[in-house]
Amino acid sequence: MVNFCKSKKCLLGKTAIVTGANTGIGYETALEFAKRGCRVIMACRNQEKAHAAREKIVQATGNENVVVKSINLDTLSSVRAFAKDINENEDRLDLLVNNAGAAYLPDQTTEDGLQLEMACNYFSPFLLTVLLLDLLKKSAPSRIINVSSTAALFIRNLNLEELNKYAGWMLYCRTKLCQIYFTQELARRLEGTEVTTYSLHPGAVNTEFLRSSTLGSWVASKMFKTAEEGAQTSIYLALEDGIEEHNGEHFEDCKRVKPYCGARDEEKRKKLWEISEEMVGLRQK
Ligand SMILES: NC(=O)c1ccc[n+]([C@@H]2O[C@H](COP(=O)([O-])OP(=O)(O)OC[C@H]3O[C@@H](n4cnc5c(N)ncnc54)[C@H](OP(=O)(O)O)[C@@H]3O)[C@@H](O)[C@H]2O)c1
Repeated sequence: MVNFCKSKKCLLGKTAIVTGANTGIGYETALEFAKRGCRVIMACRNQEKAHAAREKIVQATGNENVVVKSINLDTLSSVRAFAKDINENEDRLDLLVNNAGAAYLPDQTTEDGLQLEMACNYFSPFLLTVLLLDLLKKSAPSRIINVSSTAALFIRNLNLEELNKYAGWMLYCRTKLCQIYFTQELARRLEGTEVTTYSLHPGAVNTEFLRSSTLGSWVASKMFKTAEEGAQTSIYLALEDGIEEHNGEHFEDCKRVKPYCGARDEEKRKKLWEISEEMVGLRQK
């Protein structure tokens, strides 16, 4: 049985950014926010798919206050341009859902010298979040939700020297563990600001995510959650009252879970933050 978010919260007057909102879990998250009257900024790479998805959301909800903006998490310049646009043109930001992600990407280095999958799943969401923090603080109480994965469980001892090294499937696991450490450290740094942050595993979800994997779509369609079901924990973390005391914690199926075994090293999470700042150009090496 999948747990559904039961919150009745109205989001009129609020603004949310959902990355990767053109399909899958991100689409369902954006759709739910739009149903509740939110201004939804769909932060997407593929503009054609994003505009088609926006049309569907507007048709389904009657909420015209849904906009598409371009972001490509493969490049930091795109993240900076997106954040600049938001900071210059939006009055407020109540919810940031770092949802976009990919697995099985080729062994490639980006123009910023980052391993492609690390850039997409971790370094770019890190940079995006940091660049939007002032607006989130100004709009507090506000929330940052990081869509991670139980894949993080495969890494017991994160090697900070090898963040940028290609590792096949294990690279995806590393990116998802980094997101969890990032969430924990961000929560510590945000104490007293009324901005809170949470990470989550959405479950095994039948989306386009598995497009490059060998796992058959038949198996996924029979055994996995639907995208709507997979979006429930993201939606819960955005809407549920009274979860602020769990700032920085990890959730599955709309419930708090214990930190994964590889995500319990306080020193490492602090060090990861410093390295990340260097790698995205927020601090001198
Ligand atoms: N599905 C699962 O079983 C599962 C399990 C655990 C965690 N997750 C996590 O859940 C999140 C959502 O995945 P999903 O299942 O909904 O997958 P999906 O259907 O493949 O959607 C992924 C979204 O991310 C976007 N994206 C990928 N690379 C991008 C980039 N470089 N720049 C901007 N956007 C990019 C995609 O855009 P395009 O359409 O342009 O490619 C798409 O909108 C991911 O972070 C994933 O790691 C999924």
